[in-house]
Amino acid sequence: MKILVTGGAGYIGSHTVLQLIAAGHQVVVVDDFSNAKASVAGRLEELSGTSIPIHSFDVADLDKLNGLFDAEDFDAVVHFAGYKAVGESVANPLDYYGNNIGATISLLQAMDRHEVRHLVFSSSATVYGADPIVPMTEGLPTSATNPYGWTKVMIEQVLRDLVVAQPDNRIALLRYFNPVGAHPSGQIGEDPSAVPNNLMPFVAQVAVGRRDKLSVFGDDYDTVDGTGVRDYIHVEDLAAGHVAALHWIAEHDRTISTWNLGSGVGTSVLQLVNAFEKASGVKIPYEIAPRRDGDIAASVADPSLAHRELGWQTEKTVDDMCADTWRWQQANPQGYP
Ligand code: UFG
Repeated sequence: MKILVTGGAGYIGSHTVLQLIAAGHQVVVVDDFSNAKASVAGRLEELSGTSIPIHSFDVADLDKLNGLFDAEDFDAVVHFAGYKAVGESVANPLDYYGNNIGATISLLQAMDRHEVRHLVFSSSATVYGADPIVPMTEGLPTSATNPYGWTKVMIEQVLRDLVVAQPDNRIALLRYFNPVGAHPSGQIGEDPSAVPNNLMPFVAQVAVGRRDKLSVFGDDYDTVDGTGVRDYIHVEDLAAGHVAALHWIAEHDRTISTWNLGSGVGTSVLQLVNAFEKASGVKIPYEIAPRRDGDIAASVADPSLAHRELGWQTEKTVDDMCADTWRWQQANPQGYP
């Protein structure tokens, strides 16, 4: 298939691009590089051994998008492009609604005009809201606690409405749990532009000496050791989930499908810190800090639907995630050049 990957220069997008190529697909990337570095392109070409057309523009730009769809005969789209920082979304809600929803609408309009009917969308476990039943199943009601999360809830709804009007669409909503890790080569990985919001990149930057210590946000949750529990998923497993979903929707007649992509295993903040210390051999200094606004005690997937339907499940352990993150961080202490 010829596949358009929006946000293909970003963290999850770049890993997925490599796996799509490895599965025999042709890939074209659109990315505005608002949260990605140009140097990722050369690394993707080196690792894949092929040239990858990368178009640098905002997916919300419908004219440019239509031009690209005119020029290329796409079979499917994998849509990653979007803003993703929770705190920033609280401070700048209009940016988040405008960008995430606007880009998706433009993309859907271009797809419709060019009769491209297959879409895999990056959703998030954040759509299970403030007080989910754990482990989370796809049938739970959706809500959110911040504008970023609402953009995911709203885009899911847009897509559910769309398939009612256009039942020839085949759409996958992939609800990611906590993606971490890096490509085993150490050449591509997560490169936060500012102080990392997320646990794993923060821990990795402490280990490599860029930050003094980790703040553990709360140790009084009702969890194994009082710290927040999450379902970490290796970005390579996550990328494989996209390939599986794309193949599945091409072969089945269901208009819209929702799958959790997680491991089903919960890991606390302190358990992750321990695993990282073991993988890196570096002591991670930390202090206990107040709870972070909007955090929930535990978020763990029930991944059984994806296993049953897609034949997909995670292969990599938390130790693998830490080892691969550490390899990437050591090889690229300041991120991409
Ligand atoms: N944490 C710390 N210190 C830090 C960063 C995080 O203790 O410096 C803790 C958090 O309190 C939480 C856990 O580590 O208990 C994981 O936090 P992350 O920020 O790494 O991940 P979240 O689960 O909060 O957020 C992720 C995605 C969001 C998504 C959310 C819900 O980053 O995009 O899951 O799906 F909205």
